[in-house]
Amino acid sequence: MGTAATPGTPTETTGPADSDLVRAALGREVRRTPVWFMRQAGRSLPEYRALRAGTAMLAACQDPDLVTEITLQPVRRHGVDAAILFSDIVLPLVVAGIDIDIKPGVGPVIANPVRSVADVDALPDLEPEALGFLATAVSRLTAELGDTPLIGFAGAPFTLATYLIEGGPSKEHARTKAFMYAEPQAWERLLAKLSVSASVFLRTQVDAGASAVQLFDSWAGVLSASDYATRVLPHSRAVFDGLGDRAAGVRDVPRIHFGVGTGELLPLIGDAGADVVGVDWRVPLDEAARRVGPGYSLQGNLDPAVLLADRETLDREVRRIVEQGRAARGHVFNLGHGVLPDTDPGAITHAVELVHELTTR
Ligand code: CP3
Repeated sequence: MGTAATPGTPTETTGPADSDLVRAALGREVRRTPVWFMRQAGRSLPEYRALRAGTAMLAACQDPDLVTEITLQPVRRHGVDAAILFSDIVLPLVVAGIDIDIKPGVGPVIANPVRSVADVDALPDLEPEALGFLATAVSRLTAELGDTPLIGFAGAPFTLATYLIEGGPSKEHARTKAFMYAEPQAWERLLAKLSVSASVFLRTQVDAGASAVQLFDSWAGVLSASDYATRVLPHSRAVFDGLGDRAAGVRDVPRIHFGVGTGELLPLIGDAGADVVGVDWRVPLDEAARRVGPGYSLQGNLDPAVLLADRETLDREVRRIVEQGRAARGHVFNLGHGVLPDTDPGAITHAVELVHELTTR
């Protein structure tokens, strides 16, 4: 055992598994509050727009050179404490052979939306062998990133089902909910299928070296707590369970679970098997800590619009969130949703510096 440190006290960095991101996610002491931003890679960066010029989004996501470079851009520029893989939640569906396009300024559009029980049963499965490009990108990235952790991610079954059923982005997700109520058995099969493909997608990233995973259930906030608990949460839990039994010695990494507008669902979300519950800007973190209970760390929750406001407002909001985050067993500073495309990258760098300055122990 030699000079093993007391559990819970900071030690020298010994790689991404001992990073502040991982430590905060597990509720351990940190050197300073880790900070990263959802959608930190992407259109707010001129270097991203330059690199992406002439390459379609879904082609870029399957090109390991581009994925590596785009993922590293915000780490280099902002000094964030984690990289998030450049990819998209619809990628497992695309790789499985479903006809999907990501239209600039719109989002994912599905050529043949799922509207019937037969459509559900005709959906192709994701073959793990088709994810070679992903494993290549992740192992290159983890080699380049050194001590900085890489966050792998996937879309949760419900949020992916909204795209498949609506055929594209939607506000109310009414067709999705109607299908959920009218065809409960086909709904179960659809979400079970999506949970397997999300697990395979995450497992590939973890096996290739990702240091944490985030499951995006972006649109779960449109559900009542009771529908969420009975018709959706079990499938999100299956995604995390599919990563392997934590007790059985599989390579294990912290699990982050995020959705927008989930104030009423916060007491439930961690139950899917998360270590960290992501919170949007609607619920202050001290209140969120009460709602999720003691067993979880929190991630969030700066309103992305505040990055478009004046510096004084930005500083005030960052300070408030850092303070309120102290109520949680661990805090990963982030936005309440993704970076807006017209954000000044300088505001992001400034927020990172301020979080570090305020929290260095
Ligand atoms: O966070 C990151 O920097 C990593 C990359 C990432 C992307 N999409 C890249 C992307 C991540 C984590 C996602 C997840 C994702 N994709 C979610 C969950 C997160 C959330 O925002 O709620 C969702 C719902 C999607 C579906 C999707 N893909 C949308 C809604 C859009 C935006 C459409 C638009 O153009 O406004 C996309 C496209 C997309 N995904 C872009 C990027 C960088 C923009 C594509 C471009 O640059 O042309």
